[in-house]
Amino acid sequence: MRLNQCQNFHDFRRMARQRLPGPIFNYIDGAADDETTYRRNTQAFEACDLVPDVLRGVAQVDMSVSVMGQKLALPVYCSPTALQRLFHHDGERAVAAAAGKFGTMFGVSSLGTVSLEEARKISGGPQVYQFYFHKDRGLNRDMMARAKKAGVQVMMLTVDSITGGNRERDKRTGFAIPFRLNLAGIAQFAIKPAWAVNYVTHERFRLPQLDGHVDMGGGAMSISRYFTDMLDPAMSWDDVAAMVKEWGGQFCLKGIMSVEDARRAVDIGCTGIVLSNHGGRQLDGSRSAFDQLAEIVDAVGDRIDVMMDGGVQRGTHVLKALALGAKAVGLGRYYLFPLAAAGQPGVERALDLMRIEIERAMKLMGCRSVSDLQRRHLRFR
Ligand code: LAC
Repeated sequence: MRLNQCQNFHDFRRMARQRLPGPIFNYIDGAADDETTYRRNTQAFEACDLVPDVLRGVAQVDMSVSVMGQKLALPVYCSPTALQRLFHHDGERAVAAAAGKFGTMFGVSSLGTVSLEEARKISGGPQVYQFYFHKDRGLNRDMMARAKKAGVQVMMLTVDSITGGNRERDKRTGFAIPFRLNLAGIAQFAIKPAWAVNYVTHERFRLPQLDGHVDMGGGAMSISRYFTDMLDPAMSWDDVAAMVKEWGGQFCLKGIMSVEDARRAVDIGCTGIVLSNHGGRQLDGSRSAFDQLAEIVDAVGDRIDVMMDGGVQRGTHVLKALALGAKAVGLGRYYLFPLAAAGQPGVERALDLMRIEIERAMKLMGCRSVSDLQRRHLRFR
């Protein structure tokens, strides 16, 4: 399969699967336990029907949105995700550049493989810095100071990963960072020599956000050990309130699901929340963000920017979330498979297809701007 033949998420996923060693593909594609939530995330959109208006003069449509103080040309953004240079040697550089071209926001993860400073120089789009709460409070403060200095606009604290999810696919291959594969996993790398050649002929794999804090040299630090050894499971609302204050700017929590927590996020001064179940990778059986969206928007939507992610594969999925009151919608695997398949041109093609789908769907819905999308345009089965 070639890039210009890819028409949708499923095509990119297939192309990524052809290119990537099995353990890496399964790290992206996999989720927790029985992967019920992962499947449910997309099914949730399918259980909701669109009811279009017609004859609304839709020659021009405006897809732009404002979220977390940022103006985005598209109502979708590239969520922060870990380890992107493992998927393609350009990694975050490709995503930052593509997001900038499309006038949208992207995130750099604290488990990112390109420094947040370098990403900031590459992209013209607003940048989110995703981070976790570490036991080492000095590290938390350093990270925020670094992000501020680099000109990052939005801080995003992930709150749904207080411990690692049960990723059984990764357990089977022994996937860990840096590579600590079991024999079955190693065999799968051997059959993808093109990936291996690319990997060894490009710069060394690093986690520049954690340099000086995580010892990658010893080869012992796996993602799950990072979660268990370095992150603080005692993190509380008071701790986060102090961070919000220290940052003093746009600050959102990713992984909020309950109305109670959404209210607390408002109370401690957050400017945004992302409804998310981490792509089904953490708590299996967790409700889909889309199903939970209306309740949260009704409770806090007038006081905080509500975003969502999970299972978004189509422009119509985005429209449904916007109609319920989401300010913007995050993409994860939707851009990671194209990244793995073809680097920056892949991400650009995926964003372009999404842009075209959103524009077409808005026209077919009789909506000239995102604010025209209303709940009356939706019927749940
Ligand atoms: C994951 C973490 C690293 O989902 O965000 O793999």
